[in-house]
Amino acid sequence: MAVRHLLTLNDLSADELQQIIERAIELKTQHRQGSAGESFKNKILGMIFEKSSTRTRVSFEAGIAQLGGSAIFLSPRDTQLGRGEPIEDSARVLSRMCDIIMIRTFGHDIIERFAAYSKVPVINALTDDYHPCQLLADIQTYTEHRGSPKGKTVAWVGDGNNMCHSYINAAALCDFKLNIACPEGFDPKPELLEQHADRVTMMRDPSEAVAGADWVVTDVWASMGQEDEQKERENQFAGFQVNHELMANANSDAVFMHCLPAHRGEEVSAELLEDEQISIVWDEAENRLHAQKALMEFLLQQN
Ligand code: CP
Ligand code: NVA
Repeated sequence: MAVRHLLTLNDLSADELQQIIERAIELKTQHRQGSAGESFKNKILGMIFEKSSTRTRVSFEAGIAQLGGSAIFLSPRDTQLGRGEPIEDSARVLSRMCDIIMIRTFGHDIIERFAAYSKVPVINALTDDYHPCQLLADIQTYTEHRGSPKGKTVAWVGDGNNMCHSYINAAALCDFKLNIACPEGFDPKPELLEQHADRVTMMRDPSEAVAGADWVVTDVWASMGQEDEQKERENQFAGFQVNHELMANANSDAVFMHCLPAHRGEEVSAELLEDEQISIVWDEAENRLHAQKALMEFLLQQN
């Protein structure tokens, strides 16, 4: 049987995604009760990071340890990957030693090439194009706070980036409507918009996108790898800040999410980020831990 990976959310069926979210909620409860067990005993997670991380690294490493397994952190600075060993060779070697591997890197093709040569499941821990693990946590968080996302309206305000692409995939799998407001020139991939034109609508005006939304989400204006564009982007994204004024257009019980790290005063106001009546970003961050445990369990069971 072919090895199952999670390179984008589309590697899961809608039912499988739902099953992972339900299991994540269960694992969170078990963790709090101290009854989670050791289902990852003797399992080793390889973690390749070519970009910085706080949440992703700690949630994967803590997650596998909480269930009895262990993790090995690999950075290009001190592995042969950083000295030009081909990704295909690294995949063949590491997948003979690890039971599951997560990668955070630049081009999405890098993770596809790695997965093609890996004998064990590969998880996308963020590429320039997608961030599916964050979506698992976001869906779990919405579900815990407001119930199923099915039939809801989500508003994405900001850059049409990796997170935005994963929201588009999630809209189809979870059956919600997605309004996207980006400044011109920062739209998500046109092929994704075309493919999901039945539920995804592009807009230029953030208040139009947020009107009637149940769930409002944003992300930094300059992603990792775009640091040189930071100043220019601050000008181009003027008017795209999510704040209380913008949220006033949303439904009265709308929640605000952000994958973090956040730039207060840019894509989100400090006041909104700190307003725990609306902002559920800390639960969202915590849920990376439980959602990824459920994901690793799912992938390890499939192979
Ligand atoms: N949200 C997220 O992936 O955070 P890190 O970059 O800290 O891992
Ligand atoms: N879009 C951001 C997400 C960080 C978690 C980035 O790629 O840097």
